[in-house]
Amino acid sequence: MTTSNHRHTDLPIDPLFLDRWSPRAFNGDAISEEMLLTILDAARWAPSAGNGQPWRFIYARRGTEAWPALLQLLDEGNQRWAQNAGALIILVSRTHSLSTSTGERRAIYTHAFDTGAAWMALAMQTMKLGLHAHGMGGLDRNRAMAELGIPADDYRVEAAVAIGRLADRETLPDDLKARETPSQRKPLSELAFEGKFAG
Ligand SMILES: Cc1cc2nc3c(=O)[nH]c(=O)nc-3n(C[C@H](O)[C@H](O)[C@H](O)COP(=O)(O)O)c2cc1C
Repeated sequence: MTTSNHRHTDLPIDPLFLDRWSPRAFNGDAISEEMLLTILDAARWAPSAGNGQPWRFIYARRGTEAWPALLQLLDEGNQRWAQNAGALIILVSRTHSLSTSTGERRAIYTHAFDTGAAWMALAMQTMKLGLHAHGMGGLDRNRAMAELGIPADDYRVEAAVAIGRLADRETLPDDLKARETPSQRKPLSELAFEGKFAG
């Protein structure tokens, strides 16, 4: 069994999986470029189908020229707290590629699955650096595509990520303060089935 970060599981998993969580209270510290690139480098080493590496990362560090443009792509509810993060990342995946032999345009079936693996690597490396990562589906994907110059035919905006240094939960507005606690999970028995689907 493992207990950490107000979470408990009966099986002996590494505590780092319980320690990763998605806070909203960030302290407004900027993140160095080296730190952010280290985080993205970890994501680069994620596994992908055929080693296709369909992930792409568009980032902005707090206090740089690129920051306001990325921040205003987030839904208002996310901007409220993500404005205190140290960096923002827009996660993009490549949906189509050209066959090297025939030149034919082909869908990359696993683009989102692979980019999800990269996101998890990014989140774990973030934690190892003493920071936290918070994924966000709440952003305007169409505006992100247009304003960040993402080629619409072959790429898709998957999500955004805020990265920052943890602040006291008391710094949050009251409604967010109440939610600022590591969440729990469904039991493994509802999710894992021996031999046949039983959901
Ligand atoms: C793809 C994705 C989209 C998410 N979208 C949002 C979001 O828009 N706003 C938000 O506050 N949290 C968002 N979250 C955070 C989840 O709510 C959170 O990961 C989940 O409740 C589990 O909690 P934990 O990460 O603290 O373990 C998102 C997470 C993921 C992976």
